[in-house]
Amino acid sequence: MATRTQSRTSNRSSSNRSNSSRSNSDNSGSGGGNRSAFSWGENAGPMLGAALAGVALGFAANFGRKAVMQGMSAFAGDWDEVLAAEHDATLTIFDKMLATDETQTFKRRMLLTKLCHSLDKHAYEEEMVVYPALREANEAVDADHLEHDHGQMKTFIYELGQMETNAPNWLERIREFRQLISRHAHMEEEQVFPRFKEGLSEEQNARITSMVNRDGFWMA
Ligand SMILES: [Fe+2]
Ligand SMILES: [Fe+2]
Repeated sequence: MATRTQSRTSNRSSSNRSNSSRSNSDNSGSGGGNRSAFSWGENAGPMLGAALAGVALGFAANFGRKAVMQGMSAFAGDWDEVLAAEHDATLTIFDKMLATDETQTFKRRMLLTKLCHSLDKHAYEEEMVVYPALREANEAVDADHLEHDHGQMKTFIYELGQMETNAPNWLERIREFRQLISRHAHMEEEQVFPRFKEGLSEEQNARITSMVNRDGFWMA
């Protein structure tokens, strides 16, 4: 007696055989001659062209969006002004979150997504350019302290991602998160960045601005 596995395999083989013979006769019946079952057909050229045009359009649209997003930051001026403008924009998102109530779950989710994107981009610019430049200028203690704060921010984002947006302590967590960001931004803007910038040559300053804008562009 055949086992269930054997009979399943056997049924599949005979079914494949019958499909295969049906497919062959279909091909000959439709006058397709020797055309492969995987033939693209006569309309493949225009279809492929349209698909490629779609991809190119999508790429151009994304490139344009990034240019607009980072262009707005770049207009802020030097790297430290770009980063300060991003701090302000981030704190504005927090204020919008704090103005919601527990019935506005969709709005809270949207704002949280926006906040994560904004913090991701900002952290990338600082962690890939500014903090390494600080370490190069013997400011490693401050760079490590600031990067440690970024770690705490990621923990907040992780915890908020696990929470329901109508949780009773949602606003309280957002308020604590805002305090951390505000204290961190203050330390960067008032202490660390001005002191570091003072020791930079014009050329070094311009190079850091250009690198911050480049990384911001790719993360926008
Ligand atoms: Fe930072
Ligand atoms: Fe910052």
